[in-house]
Amino acid sequence: MKIKVLLTNAILVVVLGVTNLDAITVKLDIKESTIELSPGLKTKVWSYNGTVPGSPIIVAVGEEVVVAATNRLRVPTSIHWHGLEVPNDQDGTMSAIEPGESFTYRFPATTAGTYWYHSHTRPVLDQNDMGLYGAFIVKAAEDAKYSSDRTFVLDDWYLGVRGERLVGTARGGMERLGNLETVNGKTGDAILPLHVVQGELHKLRFINVSTAAVHTLKLSTGQFRVTHTDGHPLTQPYLTDTLVIQPAERFDVEYAATGTPGSRERIESSDRDLGLSIPIVYSTGTQSPLASPFIVPASKAFPGIATKKSDYTLELNSRMASTMAMDHGMGMGGMMMDHGSGTMPMEWTINGKKFPDTDPLHVEVGQVVKIEFINKDTQMMHPMDHPIHLHGTYFQVVSINGQAPERETWKDTVSVPAGGSVEIAFQFKNPGDWMLHCHVLDHEDNGMMTIVKVKV
Ligand code: C2O
Ligand code: CU
Ligand code: CU
Repeated sequence: MKIKVLLTNAILVVVLGVTNLDAITVKLDIKESTIELSPGLKTKVWSYNGTVPGSPIIVAVGEEVVVAATNRLRVPTSIHWHGLEVPNDQDGTMSAIEPGESFTYRFPATTAGTYWYHSHTRPVLDQNDMGLYGAFIVKAAEDAKYSSDRTFVLDDWYLGVRGERLVGTARGGMERLGNLETVNGKTGDAILPLHVVQGELHKLRFINVSTAAVHTLKLSTGQFRVTHTDGHPLTQPYLTDTLVIQPAERFDVEYAATGTPGSRERIESSDRDLGLSIPIVYSTGTQSPLASPFIVPASKAFPGIATKKSDYTLELNSRMASTMAMDHGMGMGGMMMDHGSGTMPMEWTINGKKFPDTDPLHVEVGQVVKIEFINKDTQMMHPMDHPIHLHGTYFQVVSINGQAPERETWKDTVSVPAGGSVEIAFQFKNPGDWMLHCHVLDHEDNGMMTIVKVKV
């Protein structure tokens, strides 16, 4: 009898250890809300817990994450954990949460880094544009040694003077681009400054959640030290004063506060009139310079990958949709191109086919797979770069336009330049059907997507 009780207790402890002690539980209410991008500028959004970006999810590496999501919208939605290696059925792409229903996502945070979460229910463009995104930070132990660890979620909006949503696009005419840029849901003077003291060392994480806009950020004085690309540590961190951040990309940088006490600096977008400027405000004190806690990782590069033959070659392109294709349901996110005599819907293709008719890729768990992307999309009104994203794993960038990158680079989203090419290599741990698509969401919703089928 006594032994039995002890055993029961032992089992209880184990169960608790798995489901409670090491698990972080997050509640996300997906609902209609009104937010203020600047005082008085009220905009109707769809939100996670009432804010845009949604509640940041911050966990320690190795933690079990439990996200209880309830859909209070009138349309189905889902949540994708961009950049995280989660089991296939937790990836948010296979099924949607119906209006009024709940779903609990559960996965381990296996790899430290800067990630994000967003809706993956088509039209993905509309759901993300309405505000369904948030930061997902998996902390490494050394991150706590910085003077501060800050996340900057960058977005653009197309709004009228009273904050009402305008239809269409402010710039370019092809993708949905805004007339106003935000940092953590604020624009202009409403953007919170970064307060520093001379000698401090801050970790800054930038996430571009825009559906099409590239954000180019420039530091007014000095240089950032880039330590991570899409959450993955660099074997050779580098210095730069400019970050070009494609849709869905992330950069982690160090900012060494070397300015004089009382001075002001800023991190500013190249489109200055769109309101994206992050002030850096120095207080009067000073301290001895903090050394970087960044741990330079060992190389993980695939041996001989540069000369390995590609397993797949994928050509990226666009074309006007035929009327046939139009009948097959352009979503409300459908791209229309003004073509003189009227508007023509556009579609984006991989090897001449549009999702769901694209050919899937077949690979095995553990297989080293190399893919070459060739961007042929140079015919239309403007040549397009395509930031290609792979679900379920991350990849080594093997070459850009035939050249090895300057340093070993691991990412989950890489821009394939117009008229150029990119080679990547990866290895899957988790089996399942994983999406591979352009993260310009007009392109994703209108065809530039395929599936990587991973078998054990
Ligand atoms: Cu960030 Cu398939 O998505
Ligand atoms: Cu993803
Ligand atoms: Cu694209």
